[in-house]
Amino acid sequence: MNTVLGERAPRAATAYASNCFDEAAAAQMEQLVADFGRMYRERNEALEQIARAHHECLLRLSLAADFKDDDTGVHIVRIGFLAEALALALGESPAQARMLRKAAPMHDIGKIGTPDAVLKKAGPLTPPEREVMNRHAEIGESILGRSRIPLFELAALVALNHHERFDGTGYPNRRAGAQIPLAARITAVVDFYDALTMDRVYRKAFAPQEALAMLVAERGKAFDPRVVDAFVEGFAAMEALRQSINAQGLDFRALLDEQ
Ligand SMILES: [Fe+2]
Ligand SMILES: [Fe+2]
Repeated sequence: MNTVLGERAPRAATAYASNCFDEAAAAQMEQLVADFGRMYRERNEALEQIARAHHECLLRLSLAADFKDDDTGVHIVRIGFLAEALALALGESPAQARMLRKAAPMHDIGKIGTPDAVLKKAGPLTPPEREVMNRHAEIGESILGRSRIPLFELAALVALNHHERFDGTGYPNRRAGAQIPLAARITAVVDFYDALTMDRVYRKAFAPQEALAMLVAERGKAFDPRVVDAFVEGFAAMEALRQSINAQGLDFRALLDEQ
C-alpha cells in the first residue's frame, strides 16, 4: 500500500504543481500579451503623431513658399482635393488618391529656396533667371526626399516631376509620357488649371471656361491626354469642389489626417 501510495503521492503532487504552474504561466502569458498589445498600440499612435507632425511642418513650409504667389493660402488646399478627385476619376484606389491629396500640395515646397527677385519678377525671366526658377523642382525633392514614409516619398516624386511635360520637353530630366509618374501628371494638370484662375502680379485671373480651354490646348503637349480628358469629363464636379473649398475657407489643416 505504502509503496503504491508512495508512488501515487509524488505523481499527484507533480500534477498539482504542474496545474498551478500552468495556471500561473497562463495568467502571466495573458498579461504579457495584453502588455504587448498596449505597447504596440501606443507605438503605432506615437508613429502616427510623428508622421502627422512631420506632414504639418512640411505643409507649413509649402504654405510659406506659396504665400509668395498666393496670399490666401487656399491654392495648395484646392490642389490637394482636386488631385484626389482626379486620381479617383482615373481609377486610382481611394487610399492612393487620399495619399495624393496630402502629397500634391507640397509640389512647390522648393520655391522656399527661390529668390523673390526671380519668383516675383513681373516681366519675362532671362535664361539664367529661368535656370534659378527651374531649380525649385530639385530643391523640393531634396527637402522631401529624406524620409522613408510613403507619403513623403510620393511628395518628393511629385515635387521632382511636376514640371516634366508629356511631350518630353519639360524639366529637370526631360522625361516623357509614362516615364513621368502619374501622380505628377495629375498634379501638373490641377496646378495649371487652378493657377490660371488666380490673380497674379502680372495678370488677372482667367474665367473657368477660358482656363479649361487653355488646359485642353496643352493636351498631349504639356499634359497627359488621359488626365486632361478625365478633368474635362469631371469639370462640373471639379469646379463645384473648388467653389466649396473657397466658400468654406478651408486652410491647410484640412489636408492633414483626422486625429
Ligand atoms: Fe512648380
Ligand atoms: Fe501651384
